[in-house]
Formats: sequence, structure tokens, C-alpha cells
Amino acid sequence: MAKDKDVNMKCNSNDERLVDAEAGLVDRTVFTDQKIFEREITEVFGKSWLFVGHESQIPNSDDFFLSQAGRDAVVVTRDSDGEVQVLLNVCTHRGMPVCRYDQGNAKMFTCPYHGWTFSNKGDLTGLPLAKEGYCDRLDRKQWGLVKARVTCYYGSIWATFNDEVLPFEETLGDMTLMLRDFLQGPDGEDDGLEVVDGILKFEIHSNWKLGAENSAGDLYHDVSHNSVQRVGIALSGLRGRHAWNADKHTFKTLNVAYPEGGHAARVNLYDDEQREYHSQWSQIPEVDDYFREAHDARQKRLGEKGRLLNRGGIVFPSIAYNSANRWQITLAVPRSPGRTEMWKWYFVPKKAPQEVKDALRHYLLRYGGPSGMVEQDDIENWASAQVGAQSLAAQHLPMNYMLHMGEAKWAWPVPWLGEGAYVDEGVSEHAQRVFYQRWSEMMGHPVRSRGQEESK
Ligand code: FES
Ligand SMILES: [Fe+2]
Repeated sequence: MAKDKDVNMKCNSNDERLVDAEAGLVDRTVFTDQKIFEREITEVFGKSWLFVGHESQIPNSDDFFLSQAGRDAVVVTRDSDGEVQVLLNVCTHRGMPVCRYDQGNAKMFTCPYHGWTFSNKGDLTGLPLAKEGYCDRLDRKQWGLVKARVTCYYGSIWATFNDEVLPFEETLGDMTLMLRDFLQGPDGEDDGLEVVDGILKFEIHSNWKLGAENSAGDLYHDVSHNSVQRVGIALSGLRGRHAWNADKHTFKTLNVAYPEGGHAARVNLYDDEQREYHSQWSQIPEVDDYFREAHDARQKRLGEKGRLLNRGGIVFPSIAYNSANRWQITLAVPRSPGRTEMWKWYFVPKKAPQEVKDALRHYLLRYGGPSGMVEQDDIENWASAQVGAQSLAAQHLPMNYMLHMGEAKWAWPVPWLGEGAYVDEGVSEHAQRVFYQRWSEMMGHPVRSRGQEESK
């Protein structure tokens, strides 16, 4: 690992690497160094498609909400023509935010400083003293709000301010299978989810990558959630956190990583595509009925791919999603090396009866968030790991990501996971190694061979 930590990562030999995915080692400076942080804002966040929200938050023309794209504050609008726009929330006059309401409906945004006014397409429409002060010479076309490139994907909204980034689906690669499945909801229908109103926001005292890598595939840390496992929080009312813990059908637990883009997912792959519904809401029969029907509809719609139960994952760099009865997206907003805001969108199936939506909302609140039964364990883990990353005496010790090295295979055990899927089974840190490898490439590290893990 690097003794002299070169943040420009002009790494020509193994000895100088901050990330050595081959050896399963990550230098702890990547969590603490201000220069590395500044560089990842431009090289990683500035060159990626970033999730900014969901179309169900702006169902009507002129609806808007505030969001965040890396370090950039944005206003997401449905303009008067019904198009989704992502506008930089920075006044082109002197930099003030032009919108300060979390959400609402407005045709225009007037900057509170000097009163420049912008339409919800971003055009500069109102200019105080246009004649007297600017002699009508200010070219309004040049001074509209900065607009992002936008992609709407099965209801989710993604943005980038970079013209060179490849189209969204190309950056996803074979991860499209997982993201689409998540966004389709329980019955496998397109546009299947809607947001529970509002975004839950809280701050954690750790580097954004600690949360991201955990979401990429850390099944190793279940020991952290032991107390929750004991009390029986699962929807079935049985012990354990997850409904699938009590599922009698046989399945493999897979870590599916997509090294090309740095994405990853955790899935159950069942042996039997025709499997029956496993009762998950036995305590609320009306809700159980809905999910039974949704399960059957999904099996019919997806055929063999219905064998997959998508449990959650990460769209690189900073979007974690959870599915299988707890549909949520967590966005890590990087503020400093040791400070991150977590923004959470909770989803329910759009067409479900109100009692199902209510039951899910209650479960999500009980499960996640800073006062939920699970997330507080993780927040504590990451904040404590951050303290460890800052230890002076431990600076020579890299973080260890060696679990299950050499066990992954391409497009395994079913080819429809995609040629870009690099998969291993069970408890492993394979997805984390892929995450840091991609991070390292984007930061300017030499591109590594991706065949470093031997086949089984
Ligand atoms: S900063 Fe917005 S009008 Fe001056
Ligand atoms: Fe956890």
C-alpha cells in the first residue's frame, strides 16, 4: 500500500496503490483524506449518472422538489409541457439558490437576492432593471439555469451535468436486469412503484463509501443485527428480519457484481420458477392476499426470471436500493470525508389497496431510518469504522476485503444474469472488491484485469 499517498494516483506498480482489489486491500486514507474527497466529487460523482428522485413525486405539470446530485443542489421539475427537468439550484447572477421549498407547484422560481426569475424549464424570464440597468443588452439565453442531462427509467429520474458520460443504460450494462426488476415492484409491472410522500434525511458521521460498500453486498455483518433477529420483526411474525428466512423453498444466495460499471446486487435464486407463494404477511390476511396475487402475476410475467428474488444492491457510486417487501432507495450525499447525508425514498406498489400501502409504510418506518430497528446498527458501525480509519497508529494497516477471494464466476449459475455479471455465492466481500476497483479506475488508477478471481 502507499506509504506516500499520492492522491493523483499515478500508480504504476502494485506497491503504490490505494486500492488493490487483487489482494483485497484498501488504504484507509480513502475514507479520510480531503484531497481524495475533492477528487472523487469531480471524477466519480461528476462523471456518473446520479439518482435524483422518482416521477411519482411530480405527477402534475409545474410540480417540483429539491434534490441533490453529488455536491450539486438541484430542482427537479415537471415543466409546463410535462417534461422532467433537472436544474442546478444556483442563480446565474450571484449564486443564490433560486428555490428554497422542499417541494411544491410553481411555474417559475424567483431568486430572493436580486429577483432574477427563471421558468421551470430553466429559462431566464424575469430580469429586474433589464432596460434601465442592462440597456436591454443582457442575453437572457446565456443566463438561464444550468440544465442537467436527464434520463427517466421505469419511473426513476437520473441526472448528470457531464456531456461526455455514456447514455444511462450503457453505464448500467447488465445491471439493467436488477434495477428494472426493483422498479417494477411485486407484480413485475412496468412503472410499478410510487414514493411515499417526502424524503427522509439524516446525517451520518462517516465517509459515503462505507455505506455504499455495505449496500453492495455485505452479508457478513449480520452479527450486528442479532438483537433484531431475536425479536421477530419479519413480516411473517417469525423470528428473523426477513420473510425469506422462513421460506421452505430452496435457493442460492448470490452476490452479483457488474465490474464494468461497479454495480452490485444481492439475490436469492430459487430452484423452482413455478414455486408457490411463501406467506409473508400472515398477520394481516388482506395484505397477504395482495402479495399472493402479485407473486402469481410476476411468475407469469417473468417466466424463468421469476426465480430471482432481488434483495437489494447498489447502482454505482452512491445509490443503494432495497427490495422484496421493503422498497426503498438510499442516496448518499457526500458533504466531507467524514460527513454524509443519507436521503431515503420509501416506495409502495402503485396499484395496491390503501391498507397494503399503509402496512408497508409502517413496516418501512419500523425497519429503516435512524430510529428504525436495523439502520441504527449500521449507522453506528460506519461511524465507528470512520474513527478507526482516522487512527494514527493504524495508518500503515490497510482495510481488509479478503473474504471469499477467488470464488467468483462470470454469468453463473444462469446465463441470463448477463455476460457482465460476476457472481459468487454466500457470504463474501466480492462485491466490495468490485466497488473499490471501479472507484479506483474512475479516480485515475490504471485499469485492472477483471479476471483476477479464479473460477470455482
Ligand atoms: S443572486 Fe440571484 S438575483 Fe442576484
Ligand atoms: Fe446492516
